Amino acid sequence: MCGIIGYVGPSSNPAEILMSGLSTLEYRGYDSAGIAVANSSLDVEKREGELEMLEQSVATSQFSGNVGIGHTRWSTHGPPSDRNAHPHTDTDESVAVVHNGIIENYQELRDELHAEGVIFSSDTDSEVVPHLVAKHLKEGDDPETAFQRAVDRLEGSYALACVVEGEDAIFAAREDSPLVLGIGEEGYYLASDVPAFLEYTRDVVYLDDGEFVTLREDGYTVSKDGHPVEKEIKTVNWSAEQTGKSGYDHFMLKEIHEQPASLRQCLSGRIDELAGHIVVEELDELEAPRRVHFVACGTSYHASLYAAALLRDAGVPATATLASEFATADPPLPNGTLVVGITQSGETADTMSALRDANSRGAETLALTNVVGSTAARECDHVLYIRAGPEIGVAATKTFSSQLIGANLLVEKLLGKTTTSRELIESLRDLPSNVQAILDDSNAEEIVDEYLDSTAYFFIGRGLHFPVALEGALKFKEITYEHAEGFAAGELKHGPLALVTANTPVFAVVTGNDENARKTIGNVKEVEARGAPVIVVTDGQSDAERYADAVLKIPETHERVAPLLANIQLQLVAYHMANRLGRSIDKPRNLAKSVTVE
Ligand code: F6R
Repeated sequence: MCGIIGYVGPSSNPAEILMSGLSTLEYRGYDSAGIAVANSSLDVEKREGELEMLEQSVATSQFSGNVGIGHTRWSTHGPPSDRNAHPHTDTDESVAVVHNGIIENYQELRDELHAEGVIFSSDTDSEVVPHLVAKHLKEGDDPETAFQRAVDRLEGSYALACVVEGEDAIFAAREDSPLVLGIGEEGYYLASDVPAFLEYTRDVVYLDDGEFVTLREDGYTVSKDGHPVEKEIKTVNWSAEQTGKSGYDHFMLKEIHEQPASLRQCLSGRIDELAGHIVVEELDELEAPRRVHFVACGTSYHASLYAAALLRDAGVPATATLASEFATADPPLPNGTLVVGITQSGETADTMSALRDANSRGAETLALTNVVGSTAARECDHVLYIRAGPEIGVAATKTFSSQLIGANLLVEKLLGKTTTSRELIESLRDLPSNVQAILDDSNAEEIVDEYLDSTAYFFIGRGLHFPVALEGALKFKEITYEHAEGFAAGELKHGPLALVTANTPVFAVVTGNDENARKTIGNVKEVEARGAPVIVVTDGQSDAERYADAVLKIPETHERVAPLLANIQLQLVAYHMANRLGRSIDKPRNLAKSVTVE
């Protein structure tokens, strides 16, 4: 996930407008940034690091022209560095392009361009675009046609903006990545998100997939499949102060709502529906291990429990250990053991220490992480990125969902499967829209209102829903500061049932209608008999609703995907409860996003 900005208009200082736009987009990526301003020449400035690094360079640079594009990057291909920062240019530096998304066929295009003599100067997928545009310009196309022909070659997701030396225009396109126009009195804007130009205008045009736009100082045109498209101008009622959170009250809520997009990004290019299998090119070198040991902390540990259960289900010995306990647990790591660190940040000290220990004992290591170039990514033998985009809220939400999907990709790869079950492939394909359906219809906010004054909150689940029960409780306690515990449903009667009263709501996750569901319903009856209010998270396949005081509905899906959908409802429960209690949601007391001490 990256942020894009563009401006064309009368201002003689577009760099200032671009930099101000980038500062509101920094939440979308902050490992490098850059701008390009075009006129008779093309001036490009880009720097690794947070935006202030670029600010320093821009302050001492000269830009002439009134057309510009800018970018703040969240790495997906190639580590953060000056050379991988956007805008990317062609060899003659006469075309500059910024890109958000993933170009899935970039390797094929790169090979083709390379064979034609193009020298690449970055490791990114994005750099193929300016080279393709330059190639078509050389063939005699006008800039608009050259850009459209280049985009026609791309597969994957993109929001693209392009400027060309000597041309007072921005050429842009979108497919599966957000792009919106700002219609100002003094110029036109283009951005990944409205806040980037809110300071200048509230009149916007949302672009749809497959659309191209050309912006000039005297107007803009939108087209699709070669035909002009009439677009409605909408006026947003946001204020500039809401920038960064895109109108949401909290980053956590925004990140919960980003999940359809972040999951789409995680899966992009990784499902070959036609061939019926999962593609994880990054791990092509990895040989099938004899056993797998997961290490992680907190939310990532819950993803590890889920991942280990998937592998065991497929007959591969797998365990999950809290990273902080790894040294004392001292698990045997015989030949053929793969140690997988699941870590959103890639920097957690406990996880790093466990991975280093495993490495020093000769085990092969793999990082399942969100942050390109993080310590875990650099130090492990293999890395699989979950591509969730930056997560600002301390409570992990979208990264947990992407970790569960990353676990599925990893497991299919480790099992060396040439085909994946059709049901799973279809459920993964439908996942973003199913998550969206939950976000649109959830009644979590009304439900929490009923239980504001309870003494404690319990979460139960069985099998793959056990990690979700633990995660539901962790999220809840982390941001509400209320007592919450997650249990394996069957464990209640071995002790925790003593805590259950009419004042302890129990959230039970029950999906499908198998033995697990029936047993969990038995556990629901146990707590109901003690007077506890029961809220079931269910897909409606069993009769769990009969025993519930309230229901949080999720769509029917594959049993491996259901835990993720159930967790979305529990994220909303935690968020709305914390909000009603007036807690500091994005920065809960005593907690930090990345824990770099043991
Ligand atoms: C909880 C949360 C933490 C992290 C844990 C590990 O919402 O975010 O429990 O999951 O600190 O962090 P990473 O995944 O960065 O290693």
